[in-house]
Amino acid sequence: MDIEDLALFGGEPVRKTPISLSKPFITQEEIDNVIEVLRSNWIVQGPRVEEFENNFAEYVGTEYAIAVSSGSAALHLALLSIGVKPNTEVLIPDITCISVPNAVSYVGAFPRFVDVNMNTYNISLEALERNISNKTSAVIPIHLYGHPASLDEILDLSNKYGFFVIEDCAQAHGAEYKGKKVGSFGDIGIFSTYATKNMTTGEGGILVTNRREIAKKVRFLRDQDKSSNIPILAYNYKITDIEAAIGLAQLNKLDKLNAQRISNAMLLSSHLKDIDGVKIPFISNYVKHVFHRYTLFFEPQRFKGSRDELASALEAEGIKNGILYTPPAHRYPYYHKKYNFNDKQFENADLISKSILSIPVHPNLEKQDLIDIVNATKKVTMQYCK
Ligand SMILES: Cc1ncc(COP(=O)(O)O)c(C=O)c1O
Repeated sequence: MDIEDLALFGGEPVRKTPISLSKPFITQEEIDNVIEVLRSNWIVQGPRVEEFENNFAEYVGTEYAIAVSSGSAALHLALLSIGVKPNTEVLIPDITCISVPNAVSYVGAFPRFVDVNMNTYNISLEALERNISNKTSAVIPIHLYGHPASLDEILDLSNKYGFFVIEDCAQAHGAEYKGKKVGSFGDIGIFSTYATKNMTTGEGGILVTNRREIAKKVRFLRDQDKSSNIPILAYNYKITDIEAAIGLAQLNKLDKLNAQRISNAMLLSSHLKDIDGVKIPFISNYVKHVFHRYTLFFEPQRFKGSRDELASALEAEGIKNGILYTPPAHRYPYYHKKYNFNDKQFENADLISKSILSIPVHPNLEKQDLIDIVNATKKVTMQYCK
């Protein structure tokens, strides 16, 4: 086989009908639930939202859950509810979705980016401790791609230095750390239920906590109409019973959907683990990784083309893929211009963001899709390897 055989250069693609990177798993149950709400005439926040919150809290193992309009809104309310003040610092891994530093900026605090671990791509414990100061008000560990961050060590640091921990579980519904669901460890856990996530309500988010005063404050902050006789600046971050009806059906099947993601990931890893220069996803032995994303690492010195060229070649073969995230947060134009970071502090994040590529792992994939993903990945890497 030679380079002209690649679909990018006119060869036959592995797949004529492309395989999507994400696809929501919607069944008759979601459709029936939505119809029931529409027929009930109660379509705004109401009994289905309350039921969704109760079921979600029970699933995660927390006292309280509050449904909101997005994961970003959940982050914003989390920071407000613990009283993060302007001019304090909130520590965030440098490989992150932009919603996280943006929420920190909404409350006027400084998003202090922290380098990440080369195996899990989650926040690096050494870099975290180095960045803690008397200005640190909170840390937001992200359970990136569905792999839990090192919660024991982060909670130890929180006890030692006295900062809040907000777990970002936007990509990790049902993931476990030492046998317990993520979201139940920190002061607050936040989830996104955006369409690509392990469970969805279309757009949406949910905040969990064991602390009554936080839950109470978040409810006031979410429902500005409740705040007319209290001195609080509140928001309208509510979701509707229509979205909650979808969420209830999704929550019922979350464990099954995660099991399918894990099984897909295991099949991909068993076929891709021996490709020279490619690292399959790392799994710590004390976690349940729920594979929101299945992310390969291409060692730059082992390939003739850049990771971006590999991504285009794979796409041409009919395998949609994603680079999540590039650039690392300290290089986002808004933050780089505002704070002029010293790039040398982020060597791992810089390397990772140049070298990773997520390929499809969602639960809608058929056996043949997985075989095609493997074959296309092998075809492309074989052509580009040195
Ligand atoms: C790690 C992380 N945090 C927060 C969010 C924000 O969630 P949403 O898109 O629902 O606002 C996302 C979503 O993409 C995310 O991946």
